[in-house]
Amino acid sequence: MRAVVYRGPRQVEVTEVPDARIQEPTDAVVRITTTNICGSDLHMYEGRTSVEEGKVLGHENMGVVEEVGPAVTRIKVGDRVSVPFNIACGTCRNCLQGWTSFCTRTNPTDGVDGAAYGYANMGPYDGGQAEYLRVPFAAVNLLELPAGTEHENDFTMLSDIFPTGWHGTVLAGLQPGDDVAVYGAGPVGLMAAHSAMIRGAARVFVVDKEPDRLALAAQIGAVPVDFSRGDPVEQVLDATQGRGTDCGVEAVGYQAHDHSGEEHPELVLDNLVKTVRTTGGIGVVGVYVPEDPGAQDEGAQQGRIGFDYGTFFTKGQQMGTGQAPVMRYNRQLRDLIVAGRATPSFIVSHELGLDEAVHGYDQFDKRVDGWTKVLLRPGQAA
Ligand SMILES: NC(=O)c1ccc[n+]([C@@H]2O[C@H](COP(=O)([O-])OP(=O)(O)OC[C@H]3O[C@@H](n4cnc5c(N)ncnc54)[C@H](O)[C@@H]3O)[C@@H](O)[C@H]2O)c1
Ligand SMILES: [Zn+2]
Ligand SMILES: [Zn+2]
Repeated sequence: MRAVVYRGPRQVEVTEVPDARIQEPTDAVVRITTTNICGSDLHMYEGRTSVEEGKVLGHENMGVVEEVGPAVTRIKVGDRVSVPFNIACGTCRNCLQGWTSFCTRTNPTDGVDGAAYGYANMGPYDGGQAEYLRVPFAAVNLLELPAGTEHENDFTMLSDIFPTGWHGTVLAGLQPGDDVAVYGAGPVGLMAAHSAMIRGAARVFVVDKEPDRLALAAQIGAVPVDFSRGDPVEQVLDATQGRGTDCGVEAVGYQAHDHSGEEHPELVLDNLVKTVRTTGGIGVVGVYVPEDPGAQDEGAQQGRIGFDYGTFFTKGQQMGTGQAPVMRYNRQLRDLIVAGRATPSFIVSHELGLDEAVHGYDQFDKRVDGWTKVLLRPGQAA
């Protein structure tokens, strides 16, 4: 089958790999109809992780069940499904408590709980930027979707970024009527903003410097804050009579940069501590890693990022972090889509054949104007 394979920094290749197949009785194989490129893939693409050469990429997957193992009864061949990016066993302590992103069983990497498809440090699993995907513990992991092709571009956000954006607002403790600041207007930040509106936020500030992304934030009724035009903290404080927002979401991650493009891994955390009011919550879904081979200083290479913990403490703020437990939210978010109350597809900018993935990675990585979210369609000719 054809798949997108990591070859080295800024090098991916679409090539033939062995077919995905049933390996355990609890597995299923899904024929991929849509698979997205994620900002998380860019950390690997840019050589900023320890991902191995030859890895099949892709953790944002949906499709139709092609084959099931003998122990899979809940899911049937032909079912249309969304595949959460987390690979969960469903029965370990963390899974049972709803923390499927920290499953203690599915990742054999020493000291790491939580597995995912096609991702650095997240276990030996191939990704779904391919024609087919092997799904372990299929009865646990797969979410059924209404048959057909309706809402494809909305449902494809259920595997990761819509639940992740939603989770950011939950970790932040967002309540109806709150003002919230979302840092990052990439796909995850825009999903956090969309989620915050659905969850009843009063005002949603979205901070970035990319005009096309800020325009999308404005389009859904958020207040765009352009950090290339001045300190984003001051802009938000001015708009809130100096009080700050009730809570905030970090949707940027460790490759945060200033308006000149220089990286400062602590910048957004510092800005959030200043932007959010005393006792407010901060939900960090932007990724931070324990090892960053490309970091500028030795501390950051080992994941040690110095942010303003003193002010954070003094303000009595809370912080929640980590990969999103997709299964905690994906059923409800699917039903919001079906009911017409959520339309996460508003971020989709490009729908490409799998063979166009190399171009897609390049343009999305450069944040070329208008490249907000790239979907790949393995069944579609280039
Ligand atoms: N926790 C999870 O489960 C999870 C899931 C998916 C993605 N992620 C992570 O979320 C982050 C965002 O993902 P994405 O797909 O939106 O990525 P992206 O790279 O497309 O978007 C990041 C955005 O942040 C902006 N940015 C950079 N520095 C900034 C700053 N100082 N202030 C404000 N904005 C700034 C960039 O201009 C860009 O638009 C990544 O770190 C990704 O790995 C986490
Ligand atoms: Zn993702
Ligand atoms: Zn588990």
